[in-house]
Amino acid sequence: MIIVLYLSKYGNTLQYASWIADALNAELRPFTKFRKSEISNYDTIIFGTGVYIGKMNGLSKALKMFSKKPSIIFACGGNSGVEEEVKKITDHNFTSNSLLLHKFFYLPGGLDFNKVKGIMKFFLSIGKNSLLKKPDKTQEEIEFLNGFINPTNYVDELHIQPIVDYVRSMKYRH
Ligand SMILES: Cc1cc2nc3c(=O)[nH]c(=O)nc-3n(C[C@H](O)[C@H](O)[C@H](O)COP(=O)(O)O)c2cc1C
Repeated sequence: MIIVLYLSKYGNTLQYASWIADALNAELRPFTKFRKSEISNYDTIIFGTGVYIGKMNGLSKALKMFSKKPSIIFACGGNSGVEEEVKKITDHNFTSNSLLLHKFFYLPGGLDFNKVKGIMKFFLSIGKNSLLKKPDKTQEEIEFLNGFINPTNYVDELHIQPIVDYVRSMKYRH
């Protein structure tokens, strides 16, 4: 039995999680509805989450929960899969030990700040307005501003293939 657990604020991670679950004939469930005691019911656990301000949401909780269960973890972020950006996300969120235990994948989501609501929207607009006035913007700052003007969306079912292939190949490894 395979289960795909997800945390998704704006829907991209959920979209990938459901494609993966369909392709692997797996159960699909929000991570918040999963209990540690259920781990033994599954051969394979896949956990997917979004990246916000550099952090993979809920990852530390997931790493604690799966500290004895090698799992497949994927992040869905704003970039299209740029190696340097993916490395930053990996280094920022994982220790080398957790990378030895789990298999990590990155899936390209997209960036659309117009979807953000509530208090986060308020903070984003402060950040945006001060950056607009800044003369020498870094590449990251330019990309941030672009998230308002030119929303990007790289979500594509094709991107799940490496995860699907990996899970299928695991079956023959034991
Ligand atoms: C407030 C905010 C902060 C974000 N910060 C990052 C970031 O630091 N790095 C990144 O790669 N993507 C970042 N993103 C992009 C999201 O990771 C991307 O939109 C992802 O697809 C969200 O997944 P979800 O739709 O499942 O919530 C950010 C998005 C928002 C709204």
